[in-house]
Amino acid sequence: RIDIQDESISRVYREISELESGFTSANHLSLEQAGMVYCPFTVEPHHNILFRSFQSFLASQSRRHLEQITSVGARPVGSPENEVLTVGYLLEQIEKIRVETAAGPHQLTVDVQRPTGSFSIDFLGGFTSFYDRVTNIAVRLEPKGGTQHLMLANCHFDTVANSPGASDDAVSCAVMLEVLHSLANQSTPFPYGVIFLFNGAEENILQASHGFITQHPWAKQVRAFINLEAAGVGGKEVVFQTGPENPWLVQAYVQAAKHPFASVVGQEVFQSGIIPSDTDFRIYRDFGNIPGIDLAFIENGFIYHTKYDTADRILTDSIQRAGDNILAVLKYLLKSEKLADSSEYRHGNMVFFDLLGVVVVAYPARVGTILNYMVATATFLYLAKKASLPGNGGGRYVRDLACATGVAVMSWIVTLLSVLIVALLVTLLGRSMFWYNHFYAAICLYGTAATGKMILVHTLAKNLYFGVSGLGDLYFDVSLLLWCCSLVWLTHQGLCSAYVPMLMVAFPLATKLLLAKEFKHRGASVKYSVLYLLGLALPYVHFMFLIWVVFEIFTPIMGRSGTEIPPEVVLASLVTLATIFLSSFFLHFIYLVRSTKWILAGLGSVFIVVFLLMSCGLLFPYSDSPDSPRPKRVFLQHTTRTFHNLQGQVESQDSGLWINSFDYTGIQHITPHVPEINDSVRTHCREDRPFCGYPWFLPVKFLSKKNWYLPAPEVSPSSPVEFSLLSKEETSWGTIKMTFSAKGPSHMSLYLMPHRGASLSTWSFGDGKPQFDLSGEYFIFYSHGLDAPTWTFWFEIQVLDPDPSGPEGMISVAISSHYFFGPDQRTAQLEEILRRFPTWAFPSSWVSTYDMYRY
Ligand SMILES: *[C@@H]1O[C@H](CO)[C@@H](O)[C@H](O)[C@H]1NC(C)=O
Ligand SMILES: *[C@@H]1O[C@H](CO)[C@@H](O)[C@H](O)[C@H]1NC(C)=O
Repeated sequence: RIDIQDESISRVYREISELESGFTSANHLSLEQAGMVYCPFTVEPHHNILFRSFQSFLASQSRRHLEQITSVGARPVGSPENEVLTVGYLLEQIEKIRVETAAGPHQLTVDVQRPTGSFSIDFLGGFTSFYDRVTNIAVRLEPKGGTQHLMLANCHFDTVANSPGASDDAVSCAVMLEVLHSLANQSTPFPYGVIFLFNGAEENILQASHGFITQHPWAKQVRAFINLEAAGVGGKEVVFQTGPENPWLVQAYVQAAKHPFASVVGQEVFQSGIIPSDTDFRIYRDFGNIPGIDLAFIENGFIYHTKYDTADRILTDSIQRAGDNILAVLKYLLKSEKLADSSEYRHGNMVFFDLLGVVVVAYPARVGTILNYMVATATFLYLAKKASLPGNGGGRYVRDLACATGVAVMSWIVTLLSVLIVALLVTLLGRSMFWYNHFYAAICLYGTAATGKMILVHTLAKNLYFGVSGLGDLYFDVSLLLWCCSLVWLTHQGLCSAYVPMLMVAFPLATKLLLAKEFKHRGASVKYSVLYLLGLALPYVHFMFLIWVVFEIFTPIMGRSGTEIPPEVVLASLVTLATIFLSSFFLHFIYLVRSTKWILAGLGSVFIVVFLLMSCGLLFPYSDSPDSPRPKRVFLQHTTRTFHNLQGQVESQDSGLWINSFDYTGIQHITPHVPEINDSVRTHCREDRPFCGYPWFLPVKFLSKKNWYLPAPEVSPSSPVEFSLLSKEETSWGTIKMTFSAKGPSHMSLYLMPHRGASLSTWSFGDGKPQFDLSGEYFIFYSHGLDAPTWTFWFEIQVLDPDPSGPEGMISVAISSHYFFGPDQRTAQLEEILRRFPTWAFPSSWVSTYDMYRY
C-alpha cells in the first residue's frame, strides 16, 4: 500500500520513470485528484505498474524539451535556428498539448506575434532599441468560455551569439512547456487564465517583451507576471525582485512555492542598479505598468553566456524545483481573487526572507517599521539602564562606550585601508583576479588580512586600556549600538533590508539578557560561550547565507565588468565588509582571551603563504576544466571600417581583428599564446568618430576602454549593409530633417554623434525624445527577425553655433553590422587565430563592418 501526497507524486513518478525501461507492459494509472491519493492495492516486485500523474510537474519531460531546444546550438535573433527550428519545435509541442487536453475544461489559443517597434531606456548609460519582426509565441490558457484576467509567464528562447543558452534561458522555456502541460490537464477549471509567452528576442536587450506588452491585444488583460531568467547556470532559482509594491504577489510566492528562496535584500540591491544586467521585468514594469516576480538561476555565473552553458550542466533536480515552484505559484494565483482586482491590493511593500530555504518569513513593511523601532527602543533602554546604574560614577560608562565605539570604527577604517593596500599590491604585481578560479585563496588572503588587522587593532587598544575590567561586556554593547544605528538608519530610509540589522540586534540582545546571570557568576565560562553562540546562530547563519549569495553573484560578475573597474578593490572590499559584519559580536572575545599572539601568528602565516603563491603566479585565474570551467571572456570582431568625408568620398579604410576583453586582465594572459595580440596594437578612442570609431555591439565603451585592433584582410559578407541618405530638408521650425534607409543583416548598430553646437531635437524612435548616453552620443540597437523590409528612420537636428575646431559638418553618423550566424559569421583569419587561443579563453567571435558618414 502506498500513500501518495500530492507534492510527492512527481517524485514517485521520477523514481518509477527511471525504471521505465524495465517495464515490459504497463498499466496506466491516472491520478486525477489532488490531495491525498490512496492506491488500494499491494505492489509486489513482479507487478508492472507505471504511475503517472499528468497534473504534476515532470522534470524528465521538461528535460527532453531542454535537450531538443539546445540541440540546434546558438539561437541569435534572425538566425534560422531561432526563428525556424526553435519556433517550429515549440509550436509543435504546444499543439500536442492542445490536442491532448482538448476534452478538458480549459481552452488553449496560440498566437505567433511578429512585432515591430522601438523604445529608449536608461540602462547601460542610456540607449535606444529598434526591432523589426522579432518573434513571440503567446499561448493563452483559460477556462472554456474565456476570462478577463490573466497572469503572464515569460521565458525567452533566443541566445547570445556562440552560446547554446541552456540555462539562459532554454530551461525556463522547457519548464514552462511542462507547466503549461500540467495546468491544461487539470480536471477542474481555474477561474482565471494565463499567457505563456515564449519570447524570441530578449538577449537583444529586451525587445520581444516590449513588442508583446505594448502591442499584443491580450496584454491589457495581464494583471501580473512571473519572469523566468538566468544570471548563472543551474542551482536554485532565487526571487530577484518583486513588485513594484503589490505585496499579494510576494504572499502568493511565500504561501505556494514549495522550495522558496528569496530575500528582500536581493531585490533592494538589484534595484539599486549596481548589478550590470537587466531582465524583461523592467519592460513589463515600465512599459506595461504590471507588477511581477522575477526569478533567476544564479549559481555558477562564470559560464553564463558562454559555450559552456549546456543542458548537461543543469541538474534534473534544479528543473524539478523550478517546475514545482512555478506550477504551485501559478495554481495559487489563478485561483486568487486578488488577481482580478489587483488594484485593491496594490499598496505597500513586504519584508521577506527565507530561513535556510525551509520557511519564508514575510510581513508588511509597515509592521517591519514598527518592529524595527521597537527593537531599537529596547536597545536604547538597555544601554540607558546601564549608564544610569549606580557605581558608574558620573557617566564613566557613557564615556567608555563612546571611546570603545570610536576604537571599533577606527579599526574598520584601518582594516579597510590595509586590505586595500594588499589589493593594490596584487594589482601592481599583475595578479588581478587570482581568485577567479581559486575562490578560497581570496578568503585566505584578504580574509586573513582583515581579521588579523582587526584583532591587532583591538589587542593594541586592550593593552593601552589595560586595567579597565569588563571590557568584554563593553564591546558587546558597542556592537549592539552600531547595529542599532544601522537599523535606525535603514528603517528611516524606508528600506526593507533593515530586517537584517534588526535580527542582528534582537537575537544577541535577548541572548545577553537571558545569560546575564550566568555571566555574572562565572564570567565567560564554556557553558556561557556555547549558549551565547547558540543565541547568535540564527541571525548569523542567515547573514552568512546572504554573504554567500553576494559572492556567488559578484565574483563571476568581475569576469565581465570591463577593463576599468579594478576587481581586486571590489573583492577586497567585499571580503573586508563581510569580516567586519561577521566579527561584530565576536570582538569582545578578543578582550576576554588572555593573548591573541597565536591567533595572529596563524593568520599571518596563512597570509604569507597565499601571498607567495599568488605572486609566483601559481594561482591562475582561468580554467578549462570541464567540471568547473572559468573561461576568460573576449569579444573578437573581424571588421572592415570605412570613413567618409563631408563630400561623401572614402577618406580612409582599414580592416582588422578588433579585440575586447571583458575583464581587467585585458590581454595580459593571451599574449604569451598569441604574440601578435600585444599592447603595440592597443587602440585609442578617436573622439571625433562616433563610438570611438569601432563597431560596438553593446553601448559599453565606458566599461571597456582598453581594446586592441590587429590588422587583417578585408571582410566581404554576402549581404553587405546598404546605407543611404534618402532626404535632407529644412523644416519651417528651423531644424534639418534627415531621413535614412539601411538594409543589412539581423543585427546592426547605429551611432549618432552631433558635433559641438548641434543637437538632436526629435527622431523617429521610441517616444520621439532622443536618448543620449553618458558621453552625449546616441546608440541605436537594431535587429530584425527572419526577414524584414528596409529600415528607414529620421531625425531632426538643430545647429545653434557650429564649432570650427571640431570635425567638419554638423553630425557624424555611423552604422555597424554584426554577422552572428551562418557562413558570414566566420573568416579564415578568425578561424586561424581562434585555433591559437588558449583553451581557458572563451572568444566569442563574429564579422562586423563599420561605416561612418559626415553631414
Ligand atoms: C490529461 O492527460 C491524459 C493523458 O494524455 C488524458 O487522457 C486526459 O484526458 C487529460 N485530461 C485533461 C483534463 O485534459
Ligand atoms: C606585437 O604585435 C605586433 C603586431 O601584432 C607584432 O609585429 C610584434 O612582433 C609583436 N611583438 C612581440 C614581442 O611579439
